[in-house]
Amino acid sequence: MKSRGVLIAGNWKMNHGLQETSGFFAELRQLAEAGLKPADRRLLEQGTLLVSVIPPMTSLERAVAEAGKAGFPVQVAAQNVHWEKSGAFTGEISGPMARELGIGWALVGHSERRQFFGETDETARKRSESLLSQGFRVILCVGETRAEREAGKTADVLKRQLSGALPEPGKGAAAFLDGRLVLAYEPVWAIGTGLTATPQQAEEAHQLIRKELWDRFGLEASGRTQLLYGGSVNKENADQLLACPNVDGLLVGGASLKPDGFLALVQAGARSLAN
Ligand code: PGA
Repeated sequence: MKSRGVLIAGNWKMNHGLQETSGFFAELRQLAEAGLKPADRRLLEQGTLLVSVIPPMTSLERAVAEAGKAGFPVQVAAQNVHWEKSGAFTGEISGPMARELGIGWALVGHSERRQFFGETDETARKRSESLLSQGFRVILCVGETRAEREAGKTADVLKRQLSGALPEPGKGAAAFLDGRLVLAYEPVWAIGTGLTATPQQAEEAHQLIRKELWDRFGLEASGRTQLLYGGSVNKENADQLLACPNVDGLLVGGASLKPDGFLALVQAGARSLAN
């Protein structure tokens, strides 16, 4: 039994407009009717198994409406939310704007934001601190590049990213304790490449992250924090990854876009909780 529960999150990235969003949920509901066992539904209703989709900005409102009809609880998260509540920040949305749509979850510091849009550990920290103080659940992403791993720098990079991107202890400890801050380890070389980290590589990185959390926020906060693995997860490798003691869930891109693939990951989450 995984003491921290399991979170399966589907990052749609820049995919699925309005029609596709409605179609996704209609099909997911149908598949779930046949595919989810009563025991799976209990885990979902209790929140021991959490499911989230992370659509692009224009599909958020539709996703919230459709998720309500999915037949089991599905949380909708925003991909990128600014730290200020309003102002001259072209292209961004704020926490209150996301709230207005019924959204209480946000992804922060994804490596694509870092690679293509200048996101840094500092901006990731500002977003996390602000969103946590506004009551959001935050999934904060870290992970090394291929060159960094090959140079044997994975541990240093993760420590540096955590030290820059985690909220200041005073500003984040409460959120750790109530489980609102979730960390996602996403090695950049594994994202969208088909090169999944081995369960051993994922477990090693997750142990390191948990140790860093312990040093910064204490044993209790560290022990309660869900750590997700992301990077070329699919229904073939999900069970093995979820079997790792420090892998508390999955952040999935490509394999989350189709309802059948996504439901298979939710089922893997349920299996990992039954073991
Ligand atoms: P992938 O993406 O599953 O397509 O590798 C994961 C992510 O970027 O969150």
